Amino acid sequence: MTHRHPPDASHPAKIGVVTISDRASRGEYQDKGGPAVREYLVRVLTGHFDAISRVIPDDRDMIESVLIELCEIDKCCLVITTGGTGPAHRDVTPEATEAVCSKMLPGFGELMRKVSLEKVPTAILSRQTAGIRHKTLIVNLPGQPKAIAECLDAVFPAIPYCIDLIGGPYLTTDEEKVKAFRPGK
Ligand code: MTE
Repeated sequence: MTHRHPPDASHPAKIGVVTISDRASRGEYQDKGGPAVREYLVRVLTGHFDAISRVIPDDRDMIESVLIELCEIDKCCLVITTGGTGPAHRDVTPEATEAVCSKMLPGFGELMRKVSLEKVPTAILSRQTAGIRHKTLIVNLPGQPKAIAECLDAVFPAIPYCIDLIGGPYLTTDEEKVKAFRPGK
């Protein structure tokens, strides 16, 4: 595996933050999920990064094209989605994620549901998953703003190494907040 340099100001890591909600995309309520994801990233990441944010409806074609654009055009190493993971008719984020990924990482959803179930019994309703498209890790979070830190605290320790393995930038974290685990380090 090649050892990459941490991102710097001239080459920031690109991270996509996608809020998937019919109502937020129509402006019927304020998007709280996207800001919560960005705040989390600011709090835990120590290197330079640019967050590229989108607020889109629960439309499978639209979700797939936004995910593809963030991967292929914006070259995000990580894309975090929030919303659309539940059982409702319009919830299609996991299907769109799976459609654009070449590999799924079901452990992300399993772990996030496990920790979320300690907070709310309805965590079982989230079908959240994660997968790889070329050099991008895509991770689904539920739409509840308070679910965001709960879920990311569980899986974030494994995210920098996952991004190493797919040839992305060397992400570093504030170890007091999240300790990135790299085997052998
Ligand atoms: N996970 C956590 N940590 N906290 C929550 O409040 N809400 C659940 C679940 N996961 C929740 C959670 C509920 S009520 C639903 S319906 C599903 O996520 C799906 O939410 P979504 O469709 O907004 O993605």
